[in-house]
Amino acid sequence: MIVSSKLSLPIRLRRNRRTPAIRKMIQETELNAADFVVPLFLIEGQNRSIPIQAMPGISRLSLDLLLKKIETLHAKGIQSICLFPSLEDHLRSDEAEEAWNYRGLTQRAIAAIKEQFPEICVMADVALDPYTSHGHDGIIREGEIVNDETVECLARMALVQAEAGVDFVAPSDMMDGRVKFIREALDQNGFEHVGILAYSAKYASSLYGPFREALNVNLKFGDKKSYQMDPANVREALLEAKLDEEEGADILMIKPALYYLDVIAKLRQRTERPIAAYHVSGEYAMVIAAAQRRWLDANKVFAEALLSIKRAGADLIFTYAAEHLL
Ligand code: PBG
Repeated sequence: MIVSSKLSLPIRLRRNRRTPAIRKMIQETELNAADFVVPLFLIEGQNRSIPIQAMPGISRLSLDLLLKKIETLHAKGIQSICLFPSLEDHLRSDEAEEAWNYRGLTQRAIAAIKEQFPEICVMADVALDPYTSHGHDGIIREGEIVNDETVECLARMALVQAEAGVDFVAPSDMMDGRVKFIREALDQNGFEHVGILAYSAKYASSLYGPFREALNVNLKFGDKKSYQMDPANVREALLEAKLDEEEGADILMIKPALYYLDVIAKLRQRTERPIAAYHVSGEYAMVIAAAQRRWLDANKVFAEALLSIKRAGADLIFTYAAEHLL
């Protein structure tokens, strides 16, 4: 038997991978700095930078240092940030009143950032967990996280953020009807221009641990499964996104990102709205931990991760890893 080394092959896909120029020309997905939303952790005080143990490379910053950080990020092409306050314990309470204090930490930060960097898109998290003494995202009555009363609190919170000049409010609580209620509250108060980025499908994930350390949020009892979604479900995620869209959400988010690429891809088939994905704290920490042992190259793994999230269908990505790519 003769084995010829000349195969007759009309289609050879490797021709399109032969040189860097050809590969770049046919590249289907590309990451841009403008795709990233950088989450920033904020603390009270002056000249304070407190590293987060479980997120090496990331620190909680006082407002003066936060402004410098934003300047650096902006110079590298970052256009959007999202603020998360890490509160002192005495400001936490059962009813979370500090959340709608118009002079609260987040509100002061929003105003200062918009004054210094008017062109930056400033988003702020809308959820009660940094403000509650028990660490849940809702108001508790007789041991239950109550929906409607929580939604009213969230609307108050969104309003003080809007008053401070926020571009997008980002409700991350998973209460029913909060997008509708927040939209109405914003519109009735002259904030039609303020957008809502809804955490539409936020799963009850084990990947949020480092974030809870960052905010110093400890769940005093139970878990978040009565409001955040079961990782087993995808139809329910699509329904959550559909309702948020009908209620007036401008951007729909899936969270976490990498374990839920199927959810992102399915939602992409069903909505014309922009999709955001949150590459969460645990997804960041795992890569850094491996890189510290020289088991992985963090920059390359992050580039692949974020590209994959975009390829799945996300238009924008919340990520702590942006600086590894810029
Ligand atoms: C809370 C909130 C969480 C995150 C964003 N907003 C944690 C939680 O729901 O317990 C997680 C983000 C991350 O892990 O990076 N409203």
